Amino acid sequence: MSIVGSGYVGTTIAACFADVGHDVVNVDIDEGIVASLNDGRPPIHEPGLEELVAEHAGERLRATTDYAAVRDTDVTFLALPTPAEEDGHIDLSVMKAGARSLGAALGEIDGSHVVVTKSTVVPTTTEETIAPIVAEESGMTVGEDLHVGMNPEFLREGSAVADFLDPDKVVLGAGTDRARESLRSTFDPLVEGADDPPVIETGIAEAEMIKYANNGFLAAKISLANDIANICKEYDIDSEAVLSAIGLDHRIGSAFLGAGVGWGGSCFPKDVAAIIAAARDVGYEPAMLEAAVEVNDRQPVRLLERLREYVDPAGARVAVLGLAFKPGTDDIRNSRAIPLVEALSAAGSEIVGYDPVATDNFRARYPDIDYADSAAAALDGADAALVVTDWPEFADLDGEFDGMSTPVVVDGRRIVTRREGIVYESLV
Ligand code: UDX
Repeated sequence: MSIVGSGYVGTTIAACFADVGHDVVNVDIDEGIVASLNDGRPPIHEPGLEELVAEHAGERLRATTDYAAVRDTDVTFLALPTPAEEDGHIDLSVMKAGARSLGAALGEIDGSHVVVTKSTVVPTTTEETIAPIVAEESGMTVGEDLHVGMNPEFLREGSAVADFLDPDKVVLGAGTDRARESLRSTFDPLVEGADDPPVIETGIAEAEMIKYANNGFLAAKISLANDIANICKEYDIDSEAVLSAIGLDHRIGSAFLGAGVGWGGSCFPKDVAAIIAAARDVGYEPAMLEAAVEVNDRQPVRLLERLREYVDPAGARVAVLGLAFKPGTDDIRNSRAIPLVEALSAAGSEIVGYDPVATDNFRARYPDIDYADSAAAALDGADAALVVTDWPEFADLDGEFDGMSTPVVVDGRRIVTRREGIVYESLV
């Protein structure tokens, strides 16, 4: 099989498909990434990925910049980025360019080929935008010699390899029997055992929508937990007791009820914005998803309101603990630290950021704030601390608070252990 794109998803699935026995060629325009993959080194850090790439590179896993390689395979997965435009719509330019290059390469083959969208795209994109480009460039005909599918990904950063090899479900969207059979045989090694996950076979647009429904639901679940936790806060009720109790109702479930400063990352904000924009395009105003975004935007504002109850941010030295969008990653995309640092800067605070691994990425975007190489150093001399990411090490902070100038701790994730000598305030 071929996988176009050696980004986060492309590299992970290429290595995992190789690991379950497929011959995989990974196509990317970036020569550096291709060389590194062929040397056995993945371009991203993800637990377990280095071992898989090292084991299979040069054997079942090969990388190239030459799209001609797809001709020796019968199915190609498009795993290219679909970033957000200003208004929330997805930007399809990279996908379209990939589809053009793929089509041009497929023009040379005699038989048929299956093209599967792996990237997150709004409903109808695969059939109405991607497939026609591949068909036009290749001279092939959709449904005859060109078969189309959509196979969404539910990988979380930090556990992508485990999520791929042991998924909750596999969604196979296909436009023809040939595409469906190709997808089935691709996933056979992952779903053949008795304990293996359910396989959902659908049409292409359903598969596209399942991805957005999944992420939209989870993001909205967190926002609903935050809404409830905010009410609890106003009543001075323990939100954790309330949310963990409702999570025991099996219809609700305890996952993704973690209230706090909200959701970030490369997927939730982008995908929720994209499905809202797409829904509006087809004449529907998705009120719940819009509210999910509104609650999420409000959480950092509320965190600063808590801070202002104790400290005037103007001129105050504020330690921001946690810059990554979640623990276990150096990814800062849509991290809740971003709106907080911007608001603190606008208010005239002297900011010192600390994160166990994401500091370099944050510094590249915000070079003008101070950075510390430990939580203790960030807290030293600070007038207040904001806890933004639930890194486990923040639960162990103790004597480190003694160095603060005024020991005000405003906890956006309810992770810090309360102790004598600090003024502790939680967001929720
Ligand atoms: C998510 C989806 O889980 C995954 O299926 C999809 O493919 C990509 O998007 P990821 O972005 O890696 O994965 O992170 P996830 O662990 O889902 O967390 C997303 C955000 O929600 C983080 O900012 C996290 O801090 C926040 N979150 C999560 C909460 O605020 N509360 C929770 O209870 C859970």
